[in-house]
Amino acid sequence: MPGDDFVLTPWDSSGTIDYDRLSEMFGVKLIGDELRQRLVGLAGEDHYMVSRGVFFSHRDMNMILDSQENGRGFYMYTGRGPSGGTHIGHLVPWVFAKWLQDRFSTTIYFQLTDDEKFYAKQDLSLEKTTELAQDNALDFAALGFDPAKTHILIDTRDIQTLYPIAAKVAKRITFSTTKAAFGFGDSTNIGMIFYTALQSAPCFLEEKPVLIPLGVDQDPHFRLTRDVAPLLKHPKPALIHNMMMPGLQGPGGKMSASDMNSTVYTTDTASQVRKKINNYAYSGGQDTIEQHRRLGGNPDVDVSFQYLRMFFEPDDAHLESIRDDYTSGKMLTGELKQILIEKASSYLEEHQGRRHEVDLQEFLFDWDEYRDKMRR
Ligand code: TYM
Repeated sequence: MPGDDFVLTPWDSSGTIDYDRLSEMFGVKLIGDELRQRLVGLAGEDHYMVSRGVFFSHRDMNMILDSQENGRGFYMYTGRGPSGGTHIGHLVPWVFAKWLQDRFSTTIYFQLTDDEKFYAKQDLSLEKTTELAQDNALDFAALGFDPAKTHILIDTRDIQTLYPIAAKVAKRITFSTTKAAFGFGDSTNIGMIFYTALQSAPCFLEEKPVLIPLGVDQDPHFRLTRDVAPLLKHPKPALIHNMMMPGLQGPGGKMSASDMNSTVYTTDTASQVRKKINNYAYSGGQDTIEQHRRLGGNPDVDVSFQYLRMFFEPDDAHLESIRDDYTSGKMLTGELKQILIEKASSYLEEHQGRRHEVDLQEFLFDWDEYRDKMRR
């Protein structure tokens, strides 16, 4: 947007994201204490990504909680655009979705948009994005979702289910609306122009209201979906948004799957994790040890601390003691990095083990089963 010093769209990110400003620009509501307590009350426990404000904004969360309270319930939907390996930022909405599935016993649909990334990336073939979809699906399934309640859709594989819904959505979105939402121009390929209709489709798979846990960069698609929903006689999809995990090298932007040195992938080895963090993780520490001891570090801009806060250290007491030690200068940047290296490599080692054991067939969307369920 002109006049702002950052950009965040589903396909682009630059500058340091100002989340208050972003919530105004996007028109999303910040999550306040009341909503937080209501969610925690119904879930029966807190989640560190909520209490720490990693999930910071929403659309219509109260409608979802009403539906839960009055017995109608809700289902969930989220997704991934397979443009490369999965990185730890992608895991943020998925780990939270898994918690929601456990707490509320909900069905979840996971969409892999191999078509989208083929349209969006000059250098990727459709064969490659479809292959990446299978690979990315392993990361999602490895998080422990219940296979009986989890359905992974791949756009090119499951198009017979998605297309009739996408067509109904597409008819109600004009070119001028997508242009305004995404900045498309005359040279944008028409796949991109149509694509929002396909990302909208899983919002209308069931009669119940849908909740979408997702990174806030994906919100613009669903703004359009929400305008269309009443025309299709469906509830508007509700959203709960997480902040973007920064890339290793910068405190404010977002980690991106295509920037190797800024990204920790789920398949990185312990030695890759160590090298990347030691060499690239942006430090909030001072230039010399003497200065650091005297002035202390700044955890708010320190990428290692932020990774612990957003993802790798769920224990509040431990996180706070790290924050205190770093702020006071007692802990040096190298020591903070070491904590992150240990946490991240042991998390990833376990994740890689589970990823190896996933039987994807158990999770792939089953058209016949879906049709039977809808008939009932
Ligand atoms: P994609 O593949 O860019 O991202 C997948 C999910 O991860 C979130 N995300 C991040 N979260 C925290 N920190 C980051 N650095 C970071 N980078 C990405 C995204 O917001 C997203 O939730 N078009 C979508 C795929 C999709 C989808 C959906 C996403 C299809 N249907 C429904 C969310 C909900 C995409 O390319 O996501």
